[in-house]
Amino acid sequence: MPRSFCEITDCTREEVQEIFNLCAKMKSGKIAPKPLEGKAVACVFTKPSLRTRVSFEVGINELGGKSLYITDNEISIGKRESVHDVAKVLSRYVGMIMIRTFSHSDVTGLAKYADVPVVNGLTDLVHPCQIMGDYFTILEHKKKEKYSIAYLGDGNNITNSWLNLASLIPMDLRIGTDPSTPPDKTILERCKAAGKSQVTITDDPIKAVKGADVIYTDVWASMGQKDKLNEKIAVLKKFQVNNELVSHADKDCLVMHCLPAERGREITDEVMDGRHSVVFDEAENRLHIQKAIMTFLMEHNK
Ligand code: CP
Ligand code: NVA
Repeated sequence: MPRSFCEITDCTREEVQEIFNLCAKMKSGKIAPKPLEGKAVACVFTKPSLRTRVSFEVGINELGGKSLYITDNEISIGKRESVHDVAKVLSRYVGMIMIRTFSHSDVTGLAKYADVPVVNGLTDLVHPCQIMGDYFTILEHKKKEKYSIAYLGDGNNITNSWLNLASLIPMDLRIGTDPSTPPDKTILERCKAAGKSQVTITDDPIKAVKGADVIYTDVWASMGQKDKLNEKIAVLKKFQVNNELVSHADKDCLVMHCLPAERGREITDEVMDGRHSVVFDEAENRLHIQKAIMTFLMEHNK
């Protein structure tokens, strides 16, 4: 079975570092590998995307490959055809598969049966490329041994990916959320059992952000859950990232959001456009980190 990137925890701490090192070298132009030369990459999307789609397509092109945009209208994965058969067929045409979809088991199923590496471009469970790019952004902006990171809002795929990274890299991770919107229990337990990071879950937003190096937020209702928006607003409104809340964090804290943002809901304009915000650097780094992840996979699948 080829090496894939379904979750951050598919890598070791050292491999995550290897990806960050590759990313820094590629971003600065020190190296410009072409591991996808002569290969096509299937980019399967069953959910909408701006950043993931464009950064993968541009990145694949820069690595010498050709991207194929495939929507669920064509393949209807798991319905028109089994995950197994889609994996086997795609493997005969392409050198890598990138997929954004609802069910995480569709991604692990593809990774199990494909003869080429699979990259997770977001599932309901995790968004690993995002958090790899975000941690890289933090490393660029703040030099510290260990960061305190306050995630505020819905316990979702972004929160779960922070927990996955925290199970490899030591950090002080505070999750400010309502008891009704917790992160995934299994991922939380696995992170705690790894014993690398301090993990706090609290329903007190000020406690979560107190002195934090980073404040991170995301939409309160993720793709596929927009029907739950009103319930989420009712319980999460006190976690809005606004100037008052930011004033409790470190005076030079970074404010992050994976985007797309619902401005005025989980984050105010004044914060998103303010001096702490690095949201567009995060968006840019999706390109660099994904090039590094794809290069890493091609290297480790030789
Ligand atoms: N952050 C992110 O993944 O954005 P898209 O949904 O636009 O790809
Ligand atoms: N939690 C969000 C992330 C979007 C990049 C979602 O899944 O919709």
